[in-house]
Amino acid sequence: MLFDSHAHIDDERFEEDRDAVLARARENGVAGLINIGADMNSSRRSIELAARYAEVYAAVGNHPHDTAAVQPGDYDQLAEWTAQPKVVAIGEIGLDYYYDHSPRDIQQQVFIRHLDVARQTGMPVIIHDRDAHGDIMRILKSEGKGLTGVLHCYSGSMEMAQEVLKLGFYISIAGPITFKNAAKLPEIAAAVPLERLLVETDCPYLTPHPYRGKRNEPAYVRVVAQRVAEVRRMELEALAEATTQNVCRLFSIDAGSLKKE
Ligand code: NI
Repeated sequence: MLFDSHAHIDDERFEEDRDAVLARARENGVAGLINIGADMNSSRRSIELAARYAEVYAAVGNHPHDTAAVQPGDYDQLAEWTAQPKVVAIGEIGLDYYYDHSPRDIQQQVFIRHLDVARQTGMPVIIHDRDAHGDIMRILKSEGKGLTGVLHCYSGSMEMAQEVLKLGFYISIAGPITFKNAAKLPEIAAAVPLERLLVETDCPYLTPHPYRGKRNEPAYVRVVAQRVAEVRRMELEALAEATTQNVCRLFSIDAGSLKKE
């Protein structure tokens, strides 16, 4: 049983065939997925999808790209949403210094406010970090006390991974591990303790090899997991079981509620 810990199936690219996409995921052994909010609208859509589909869980939050649009009242709304039964995390939140769609000081302020909401509500956090490793770690250490969560689509160094693990956080591996230019990622995926590892698609983005160029979808988490299993020299089945258990532990999802194929 696999679990896609990070998907965006609310994306309009799934509007035409969402049922078929979820059926394909199930055929590939994907027992569940977390649909991730990237702004207030997609957070609301995540909750709607979780209500409609048994295997979908929801995270709510504002992606660093959209932080300039966050309104003061949004934090209360997010906190309120966490009371819904299938809302399992605050995310995705964090910093993106690659695109810099929102000014960095605003990204940081909004990131910290989301960490506060997570602490108040007892939710884990799902963190987006692109080219912002230093500030992510600095803020997590100073403002993330008492929190747990995951660094999604991990792209940092081995040294940073050690720091992340020391803070009690998990590391999630996405499609880039299958790319020819994956650099240090296979080595890092092999070194992370099995009980701290997650796998994800981040679909519709980051389609793994050999499907690059096509839309990504939750079924392809199998391809990511296969590559992670390979670099760890273990069977896919064992990797799938362990990473699914990790998702259930981190996000307080009842493993018994996941349907076997
Ligand atoms: Ni994402």
